[in-house]
Amino acid sequence: MSLQSTVMWSIKFSSAGVSALPIFVFLFLQCFPITSLAAAGQCNADDKTALLSIKAAFQNSDQSFASWTDATACCDWAGVQCDAASSGRVVGLRVYGDAHLSGALPDALGDLPSLTNLIFSDLPRLTGSIPSSLTRLSRLSTLILTNNTLSGSIPYYLSQITTLRFLDLSYNLLSGPIPPHLSYLKSLFTLRLAHNQLSGPIPVSFGSFDKKKPPELDLSNNHLAGDIPFQLGLPEWGRIDLSNNDLSGDASVLFGSEKGTTRINLSSNRLRFDLTQVTFPVNLVLLYLNRNDISGSIPAQVNQLNRLVVLNLSYNKLCGEIPAGAVTVKFGPEAYAGNACLCGPPLNACH
Ligand SMILES: *[C@@H]1O[C@H](CO)[C@@H](O)[C@H](O)[C@H]1NC(C)=O
Ligand SMILES: *[C@@H]1O[C@H](CO)[C@@H](O)[C@H](O)[C@H]1NC(C)=O
Ligand SMILES: *[C@@H]1O[C@H](CO)[C@@H](O)[C@H](O)[C@H]1NC(C)=O
Repeated sequence: MSLQSTVMWSIKFSSAGVSALPIFVFLFLQCFPITSLAAAGQCNADDKTALLSIKAAFQNSDQSFASWTDATACCDWAGVQCDAASSGRVVGLRVYGDAHLSGALPDALGDLPSLTNLIFSDLPRLTGSIPSSLTRLSRLSTLILTNNTLSGSIPYYLSQITTLRFLDLSYNLLSGPIPPHLSYLKSLFTLRLAHNQLSGPIPVSFGSFDKKKPPELDLSNNHLAGDIPFQLGLPEWGRIDLSNNDLSGDASVLFGSEKGTTRINLSSNRLRFDLTQVTFPVNLVLLYLNRNDISGSIPAQVNQLNRLVVLNLSYNKLCGEIPAGAVTVKFGPEAYAGNACLCGPPLNACH
């Protein structure tokens, strides 16, 4: 019995009424081993055409696309996920961890209109830029293109995929400025552009992300430069990592005891401001300010940060006595080292 005839049976039986269902299931079980029963079967014909174009765009892809043949129903192809309603629409595609697969992301990716999750990751020979055809994916929620060799700029047109919630383009060779348009993505809860070669400033528009629910933001390990725009202090970032860039200016806008921020990593920039007047978000778990030009003294309020587990203030221009208390005592000298004139435990006594 072929799969097609089984599907036709299924249609006949459903029109015959609910009572016929157990018979159908029984017959189905007779014909197929349990593994293919659990599987989703054939995908939509247009989606299948798109998948075959995607496969054809790559060379040396035997590992990733070995199962993508007529011997297997396309909803069962490796990395392909169809929707639960069994209409055979492809909703997920994941290609990852293949050192040989080479080529660029094909335009045909835009021909899977029901796609909600798209992942191409850990593919060292995936090159080229991010294709504009992705803007046709009007249901796309997760776009993960991390740890490949993608180059070119981050296209402003990604902002047209307003359904995006999770965008991760980290660990590539993307260059040029961050498009300000990304702040149009009002549903984003994660934005990761880390470990690329991005340059230019942090867009002022990033201040217009939702004040209470901005995305988790990771712009670390790029070549971003210029002053921190004061607008960046408007959203209450849950997690913000701007570390290892060339950013300058006043980052004190990111602080404030009333903010809900839990993780701040500003390590290895050229930030220059006075820490004395800063109050820290009370739920901080992690605070990395090491390797900047931060001056002033450590505010005593640091000792109210009951949840703080990681602190690094080393290699700045901080001065004065480390305020003794329940929090500062948790960290060793390496958290405070390399400052102009910080003193007191765990560093040398003040004179
Ligand atoms: C990137 O992918 C390589 C395999 O190509 C893997 O060994 C490495 O751990 C990955 N790096 C990250 C940061 O995920
Ligand atoms: C903070 O940033 C530095 C520099 O990018 C990095 O080495 C460190 O792992 C980061 N720490 C955390 C906890 O994110
Ligand atoms: C703190 O930062 C310094 C300078 O970047 C680094 O050498 C040290 O390992 C860090 N220490 C901790 C505990 O994170």
